[in-house]
Formats: sequence, structure tokens, C-alpha cells
Amino acid sequence: MKFFKTIVFVLCTLAFFQNSINAQMNAKKDAEIEQKVEKLLSQMTLEEKIGQMNQYNGSWDVTGPMPGDDYNKIRYQHLTNGQVGSMLNVISVKSIKEAQKLAVENTRLKIPLIFGHDVIHGYQTMFPIPLGESASWDLEAIVQSARVAATEAAAGGLNWTFAPMVDISRDARWGRVMEGAGEDPYLGSQIAKARVLGFQGSDLSANNTLAACAKHFAGYGFAEGGRDYNSTDMSIATLRNVILPPFKACVDAGVATFMNGFNDIGGIPATGHTDLQRTILKGEWEFDGFVVSDWGSIGEMIPHGYAKDKKHAAELAVNAGSDMDMEASAYVENLKALVEEDKVRELAIDDAVRRILRIKFRLGLFDDPYKYCDEEREKNSILTPKNLAIARDVARKSIVLLKNEKEVLPLKKEAKNVAVIGALANDKDVPLGNWRSQAKTNSAVSLLEGIQTVLGENVKYAQGYTLTKGKRNFLNELTIIEEDESKFEEAINLAKSSDVVILAVGEDCYQSGEGRSQADIGLLGSQQKLVEEIYKVNKNIVIVLMNGRPLAIPWIADNVPAILETWHLGSEAGNAIADVLFGDYNPSGKLPVTFPRSAAQIPLYYNHRNTGRPGPVEMVFWAHYTDETNDPLYPFGYGLSYADFEYSNLKVSSPEMKMEDELQVTCTLKNTGKVAGTEVVQLYIQDLFGSITRPIKELKGFQKVTLNAGESKDITFVLRSKDLAFYGADGSFKAEEGDFKVFVGGNSVDLKETNFTLK
Ligand code: BGC
Repeated sequence: MKFFKTIVFVLCTLAFFQNSINAQMNAKKDAEIEQKVEKLLSQMTLEEKIGQMNQYNGSWDVTGPMPGDDYNKIRYQHLTNGQVGSMLNVISVKSIKEAQKLAVENTRLKIPLIFGHDVIHGYQTMFPIPLGESASWDLEAIVQSARVAATEAAAGGLNWTFAPMVDISRDARWGRVMEGAGEDPYLGSQIAKARVLGFQGSDLSANNTLAACAKHFAGYGFAEGGRDYNSTDMSIATLRNVILPPFKACVDAGVATFMNGFNDIGGIPATGHTDLQRTILKGEWEFDGFVVSDWGSIGEMIPHGYAKDKKHAAELAVNAGSDMDMEASAYVENLKALVEEDKVRELAIDDAVRRILRIKFRLGLFDDPYKYCDEEREKNSILTPKNLAIARDVARKSIVLLKNEKEVLPLKKEAKNVAVIGALANDKDVPLGNWRSQAKTNSAVSLLEGIQTVLGENVKYAQGYTLTKGKRNFLNELTIIEEDESKFEEAINLAKSSDVVILAVGEDCYQSGEGRSQADIGLLGSQQKLVEEIYKVNKNIVIVLMNGRPLAIPWIADNVPAILETWHLGSEAGNAIADVLFGDYNPSGKLPVTFPRSAAQIPLYYNHRNTGRPGPVEMVFWAHYTDETNDPLYPFGYGLSYADFEYSNLKVSSPEMKMEDELQVTCTLKNTGKVAGTEVVQLYIQDLFGSITRPIKELKGFQKVTLNAGESKDITFVLRSKDLAFYGADGSFKAEEGDFKVFVGGNSVDLKETNFTLK
């Protein structure tokens, strides 16, 4: 034992020294970079500085000759005379090399471009959409998925991803809810951090890491009515306590860049928001990377009614701290004149350029502008079997079992009479999700294929419905087929003659994502009707949902015995779903967002405040609807397993906690089921009164625990006063004395409860 302790002591001491050596080396590297930045900056003309702040889309074939059309000709010329600092959407090593060459070989100072692209949930190996992946509550899996995405994208020559999107959203109508981590600032912060670590790794200058970008700063997920790009308006308390924490977590994790948003907040567009970008981000949080505008968002300050013309927009944006102009050409066209007219100080330009150069140095682009451009690597490290295996694992961890009555699931692998119904079941494209980067069309494993791998001939398929017609792509609006029962009969007959029906319904992946908000969050087209018709002939139904937003499906939840939430799961979707359907993987996902019963309840979220009239009371005078409950269909944190978990012995280490103390919260978790399973144990608190009214519950910790059948484990969480802190009435971040409830359980509703007082 003594020997063991000595070994541990030696290892800890070594680790301590290693960490401090690393910290010293990093500090030295940073100091060297700062010197290089200053030296370069001092050699730059004003035009060259402004060039660094200009980003263009790769809208012409960079591998070809100078484009003939005027629009692209100007861009080409800008690229070759140092008026471009970055490009987005230039894809493939060949094109990136070519574009880099144009910039480096033709310009006086040979400053390399940084190449950005939306690598959101994979590059070619597709992972679950971010909302789905967040349902895994598995931070290691999330790091790994971002790591694979970065490795593939960097092998494709890219240096920078416009991810993670860390916008908190409480609105299932908003199409971009699919791209975030859901509604909770704590879970959202943990996931934000994991994604930054995954993309950036521990060394930004390695050729398999990408600079990450925390977006959209800030408030974009609070678009009024859930309509993308719409105005937002929220209190400082909501901004500080709900919206900003995941952004702060990104800064703490060392994120290289930020992107601002399309929205205005209380009348000030995010792109022109000095308080957000200068006071909070670069001041209070000491963020030393750069801020890129969203696509054309500098110019959009004109229709917002905030800038009178493009020149004015450029002035407002740069003074507010937007460092790089994505696709508005506002800076390249106007900044020089604005400096000459004294409307923008050259110091502000220097600050922006310093930040951009700093990240380019950290990426190692000055050492070798082509360091990401290796054709061999591009051929060998994308869509590898290893990456697909990781995608399958992350996908199955992201599935949420919403209902399983009469133990319909898991299905037996010997089952003979299985019907698979629904167009989505036989779709190899929808599971790839909305932000699919370089994924090949129709390259996912479909649900039907996944099931056929297990059951072989013992499965029969009927389409049942057709969801869309016409073009399906990232740019255009989808056309949903409202009524079409032409394929019902075949499906109903198949259901009649089968023992069990696996019925896939939900959404096309182009129903969610940017610009794709919906007023109706139920099942569109003839899907609902088909489910009800099939239910009339066979009640043994497993609904497999594929969707990019929370769905309001109360009839299905009330009637159908088994429901599996599978989101848009990526390249390995069908295999991952089959793993869960047949019990090779015991589902462990939990919802990162509330599922409402109807869109009319929105915003509906678990961490709301209590109101003065929480109810229910006998008379009508309480905060409720007279025609709908206040309850969600499925609450935040909810998800079942093939095992059963029992919570007991919830205790706090002391009924009183001093500000400087730690409080231990313990409970016993037992797997009372018949199979091993994994539970996400969730810790919530309620601050019963404060200088501002407090949420009825707030997630403060979670642990993923795997137990064999019959096994128990004591679980411990530690609370410190900083975990209880919030921005209160005086605007400062601190915990306030008073009474607290503390809850532990498997979702935000079914919880054990105890309490303590903070003194
Ligand atoms: C989106 C951003 C994205 C950018 C570049 C914009 O429309 O809002 O999230 O990164 O385009 O593609």
C-alpha cells in the first residue's frame, strides 16, 4: 500500500511539473507570436490591414483562370492584391492550395488566407445533428465526434469551422434548434466546451485541428415567434444567466473565433453591438481571438434600420468590434475612407488585424501556408471505417427511448414477421442531416438497411406516404405533400399481416436548419393519418422518429406502445437504430430540450420561473391555459432504458452551507431491471428566493453511470457557492444567501428532493 501511495505521489508530482512546463512553453510560444504579430502589423499599409478583415465566399472556380464576370473578377483581383484575408466554402485540397497560392504568391507581405467552412456535424462522415448528439449527454463522445469532423475537414485543407453553434433556444419552431445543444445553459456550456476541445484539440498548429467559432453572438436562438432572423428582446438577466454562459464556456475552453448574429437585440443588431462584442467579450472575458460577422450581416444593418448605407454599416460594425466582414464587402469598400474621415480610428483597425493575424500564427499558417494541403492525407483519412465506427457509436448514444410499454422493445433477432413502414425508413439521405458539408447524397445507412442486416429476409417494407416533392436541397424551400393516401392500402395490408410494425415518421432534414422555421411542429403531410390507420389494424407499433426539432405528437404518445427518438443520426443511422431496436445497445439518451404537446405552448422550458400564481387552484386565476395543460409531452432530461433505475437515500452533507464551503449531495442509484444499463443522473437546484426571481429548477451537474442488473452505486455531486451564483439585481455574479432545494433524478420532473440553507 505504501509503495502504491509513493507511486501515485510520484506520478502526481510529475504530472504537475509536466503541466507547468507545458504552461511555460505555451506562454513562451504566445509571447513569440505576439512579437511576430506586432512586427508584421508595423509593416502593413492601411489597405493591407483592411484586406485582412475581408472574407469572400469561394464563388468561382479558384482552380481555373481569372473569372470573366465582373462580380468574381473584382474578387479575384482583391485576392491577388492583398485585399482578402479569408475565404469560406473553398472545398478540397486542390482548390484551397490554388487559392492560397493566389494570395501568397501575388501579395507583398505573403500573408496566408484562413479557410473557413461550416463543419457542423461532420465533414464527410456524418454524425448526428448537434441537437441529437446533445441527447447523448456524453461529453467524451461529443469531443470525439468533433475530433473526427476536424480531422477530416483539415485533411480536406480547411483551417476553420463555423461551429459550435451554442445558441440556447426554447423554441421548437425555430429551424436552427437542430444546430445547438437545446434549452439549458449548464448542459449547453458543457457541450460547447466539449465541441471546442474536439475541433481545436490541444494544439491549434497541428495539421489535424481546426480553429472553432462560437456562434451566433448573441441571442439569435431567441428569435421572436421562432422565425429565423427575427428580432430578439430579452432582459439583461436572461442574457447573462441563460444566453451567455455557453459563449463564456467557449472562451474558457480557448475558442479561437466568434461569429456574431443576424438578429437585433432590443433594437441593436448583434453585428453592431458594442456592449456585447467590446465590453463583454473582449473586455470582461478577455477574449483575444477575432469576431467574424455572419454572412452579409454588416450590410443587413441597413434593412434593420440601424445603418443608413453600407459605409455607415461598416463604421458601426468595426467600431462595435466586428473584426472580419463575411461577404458584405462593406469593409473593403469603405474602411479606408472612414479612417481618413476620422470616423474609424486606425487603432480599431489595428486591433482587429492583430486578432486575425494572431489566429493565423497560432494555426501555423505562417510557417507553412500549405500545411493543411496534403492530397495523400485527403485521400486516406476521410470516411474511414474507423470514423464510421465512431459515428455509429455516437449515433446510438444519441437515441432517446421515449416510450416502451408492454416491453415491445427490444425486438427479438429471430422475429419473423416484421413490417417496416414509412418513406423515411427507406431513405438514405434524410439521416445525413441538414448541415452535411461534403457528405455524399444518399450515403447514409437507411433504417430499412440497418434492420435487414439483422433480420435478413424476415422483414417486409411498405412506403406508406410520400413526404415531399420537387427540389430537396440546402438552398430551397421544401414542398410537403399535404394529402396523399395512395400508398396507404399496401402499408395497412402489410401491417395487418405482421407481428410488429416499425413505423418511421418525422421530418425531412431540410425541414429544419437555417431559414426553416415552422408554425406546425407536428407530423406534416399524411403521416399522422397513416399512423392512426395502421393502429386500427395492428397496435404493436414501434414509432421511429427522425426529426430536427422537438415534435408535438400527443396522439402518438398517448396511443402507440413504443417510441424511439432518433433525430437525423448521420452516416450510420440505420445501423445505430437497429443496435437499439434489437437490444445490442441499451438506450441511454435524454432529451436536451422540452417536447411540447402543442406549438401553442411555446416557449415551454423546464427552468422557467414560478410566477406569483403557479397553481393549480380551483378557480381560473392562475398561470395556465384553459384548453391545454402546462405540462410538456416529454420533459427536459427525459429518456428511458431497457433497464429500470431506482433512486434512494438522497442526502446533503450538511443542512447549512457557508459561502466558502462545499456541499456534498449523495444518493444511491440501483439498476432494478433485468439488463445492464446506463443512466444519466441529473442534479438540479432551486434557489427559493433572490434579488431577482429564480427558475423553479436549474441543472447543476450530471453523471453517466453504467450498472449491471441488480447493481447499486452511491453517486456524489459537489456543490460550491459559485455553482449557485447568478447575475442578480445589482448586475453582479454571486450566490445569494437563503434556502435552496436540491433534486436528483433521471429527468427534470421525476426527482428526489432535499434542501439546505446557504449562509
Ligand atoms: C449562417 C452561419 C454560417 C454562415 C456561413 C450563415 O447564413 O447563419 O451560421 O456559418 O452562413 O455559411
